[in-house]
Amino acid sequence: MQETQEQRQMQFYMAPMEGLTGYVFRNAHARFFGKLDKYFTPFIAGSGLSHRELHDVLPEHNRDLPVVPQIMTNRAADFLAVAKRLEEFGYREVNLNLGCPSGTVVSKGRGAGFLKDPEALERFFEAIYDACPLRISVKTRIGVSDAEEWERIRAIYARFPVEELIIHPRLQKDFYKGPIRWDAFARAVSCFNDNRDCNGFKGCDDFKKTPLCYNGDVHSVAAYRQLREQYPQVDRVMLGRGILMDPFLVQHCQSGESDYALERLRDMLQTLLQEYRREMGNDTHTLYKMKEIWTYLGLRIADNGTKALKKIKKARTLEEYRIGAAEALRAWEETCAE
Ligand SMILES: Cc1cc2nc3c(=O)[nH]c(=O)nc-3n(C[C@H](O)[C@H](O)[C@H](O)COP(=O)(O)O)c2cc1C
Repeated sequence: MQETQEQRQMQFYMAPMEGLTGYVFRNAHARFFGKLDKYFTPFIAGSGLSHRELHDVLPEHNRDLPVVPQIMTNRAADFLAVAKRLEEFGYREVNLNLGCPSGTVVSKGRGAGFLKDPEALERFFEAIYDACPLRISVKTRIGVSDAEEWERIRAIYARFPVEELIIHPRLQKDFYKGPIRWDAFARAVSCFNDNRDCNGFKGCDDFKKTPLCYNGDVHSVAAYRQLREQYPQVDRVMLGRGILMDPFLVQHCQSGESDYALERLRDMLQTLLQEYRREMGNDTHTLYKMKEIWTYLGLRIADNGTKALKKIKKARTLEEYRIGAAEALRAWEETCAE
């Protein structure tokens, strides 16, 4: 089923995923599966760029890709210092991470942990929106432990010229598995997108129209279609685990087709292996990365792939990995053909 004219305008973003969707992955995916509309980098933390962070944003590592670097901090000075470096590299937009649920991050009041203190968050926004030379988009959860927190949080976003608001409608306490809080997303659509009343929420009338992007659990074409049907006015979607489980996902969402040209997956995996090896200069680290990639790809394989996936998991050398991966790819093919 082909999408309609209106739906064809959907924009697809690659989610930031630490350790996974860095420059090697985003380049390989773009090469074999087509360019997406935006790629968000895994978060940059602190006031400068580490070796890994620097390599991830270097323009020569992201040629022709629309990349948006992501920053995670609760200190305006650090945010502005990193943004300045990114501006020197030619970036025009940065993204603020207000969604990371990890305990160590949250305990320092960063990521989703920053949502615990709306007053501090508002002061932080005043400082960064006042002084940042780049456009600032926000990726957020809807609160820490109670969905009611969302009212206060979205009132803050409404005050500032947020370039786009990417909403992962879960609470921090939900991590990546809790229920999607559709009600909270609906309220955001109603205020930021439609500028309609949302249960008489104070300040709603003044909400600026802000582009919204949906993120969370779009891991199949069916889930994508459901989102489109429910929220036809939302024209941006960010995909993370879905692309890792099935690199064909965006193409299938766009075309409505479900053909799997497996040689493209094979070629992408081959390129990933070569590029990780070149980047890290070390077989052990490369092996670790490929195993991590397969923890997601493996979720799409039926029981016929269990043995192959075990081989990958147990591999101690790249040669052992290659044998397991070849078998797992065959299982992938069989599962897709069903
Ligand atoms: C291993 C892992 C690493 C992640 N790293 C980041 C990150 O660096 N920045 C961020 O904003 N979100 C990060 N996320 C969250 C994803 O970007 C995304 O919001 C989440 O996985 C839900 O979307 P999905 O269901 O499409 O994967 C990470 C998620 C996972 C599982």
